[in-house]
Amino acid sequence: MALRNILHDGDPLLLKKSRIVTDFNKRLHVLLDDMRETLINAAGLGLAAPQVGILRRAVLVVDMITEDGDPYDRIIELVNPEIIEETGEQCGQEGCLSIPGVYGIVRRPLELRVKAQDRYGETFDMWCKDITARAVCHEIDHLNGVLFTTIADRILTEEEIERNEE
Ligand code: CO
Repeated sequence: MALRNILHDGDPLLLKKSRIVTDFNKRLHVLLDDMRETLINAAGLGLAAPQVGILRRAVLVVDMITEDGDPYDRIIELVNPEIIEETGEQCGQEGCLSIPGVYGIVRRPLELRVKAQDRYGETFDMWCKDITARAVCHEIDHLNGVLFTTIADRILTEEEIERNEE
């Protein structure tokens, strides 16, 4: 496994639409393993392949809902993810490893069902809620070239961020 470089806001690759994954091969597995290491190293909640410069529809989301043990033992791999059902609304704070130090208030569904494939191409679906539903939406947005700063109701001020850190 190896750390990959996380692209930052301003890189044109972050605004591109990623392509469907069709080959569930060693190359994909290496990508997912590297993304996992990169995500843990950056202490993030999710990471999308385009953030490491690969325009393929693959994302990782950390399951922060289950409370036992280390959340980084519960990284969910979603290949070709698609939201197939959603309900409710949550309005909360969001950040992104590609836009360090910036936070915004973003509306997301409260719960959703996401359909995806695993690294071997097996299709599965799962219900997510709260912060995990937010992370799934945020990462799928990356696959469509959408950054949270463009859909946020508003961006937090320096003062608000400082208050959060207290
Ligand atoms: Co992000």
